[in-house]
Amino acid sequence: MTKKKITVIGSINMDLVTKTKQIPKVGETLLGDSFYTIPGGKGANQAVAAARLGSDVTLIGCVGDDSFGSDLTKHLSDQGIHIENMKPVTQQSTGIASITLSDGDNSIIVVPGANYAVTPDFVASHEEMIAGSDVLLLQLEIPLESVIKAAELANKHNVLTILNPAPIQALPKSLLKMVDYLTPNEHEQELLLASCDLSEQEEKEIREKCIVTKGSKGVSIYIDGEVLIPSYKVEVVDTTGAGDSFNGALAYSLSNGATLEESCKFANVVGAISVTKLGAQSGMPTLDEVEEFLQSRKG
Ligand code: RIB
Repeated sequence: MTKKKITVIGSINMDLVTKTKQIPKVGETLLGDSFYTIPGGKGANQAVAAARLGSDVTLIGCVGDDSFGSDLTKHLSDQGIHIENMKPVTQQSTGIASITLSDGDNSIIVVPGANYAVTPDFVASHEEMIAGSDVLLLQLEIPLESVIKAAELANKHNVLTILNPAPIQALPKSLLKMVDYLTPNEHEQELLLASCDLSEQEEKEIREKCIVTKGSKGVSIYIDGEVLIPSYKVEVVDTTGAGDSFNGALAYSLSNGATLEESCKFANVVGAISVTKLGAQSGMPTLDEVEEFLQSRKG
């Protein structure tokens, strides 16, 4: 079977993860348990999730001309991702995320750095790549104008586009209308709908393209009304990147012709497996691992 082409335009970060029993209050100093430097960034995470499952993935993004940048570039190439469209830039350091992990849950500060060198012109220079994709995956850790430019190009070439609106910000109505699917969590969906002035009909149309992730409850989609697709109970080690695993898997599944409902069920499995290991990308499964997981749940 020919691999489907997924293009991801988005962020590439080094995650600086501190594990601690408690998250410090303002002004408080605590001793943490352990520290890890782990590849992350919503764009890179989603690219890795889709690549592990077997998609032909191109990542378009920027890193700094520094050691994190070269480590991440090598890492992504080792994952089988096309990195020819990644650009090292000199004026900014590689994006980082400072993550505090406590009891499987996290709080994150992202410093975008070189991710903000992904300009609309840089995106436009990859029009041919976008046009030849089966799916375009977008998030909000690069400048919004660049996300809009990417969605415009995908729209022009009839490429299926998924926008993961995270971290959430107010988005123009035109962008919400251009993309095929939105993958907010419940909180992000409400902010999104409130952030632009939508008529009743427009709000209905946007809600219908939302695949709403609801953490341990599962995801809900709209097929003649709301349908909840429940998630799986697993031993949670780290929820960082669970949404990214879901998005990468959704892109993989939709590009291979599965229905929205089938794709969400599949992406739910991938999301569940991904939280069983430390780090955004470490737990992302291959297709065989998904199969094994499903078999183990049958017996
Ligand atoms: O979605 C998880 C990701 O968000 C982390 O890997 C971190 O880099 C932040 O971008």
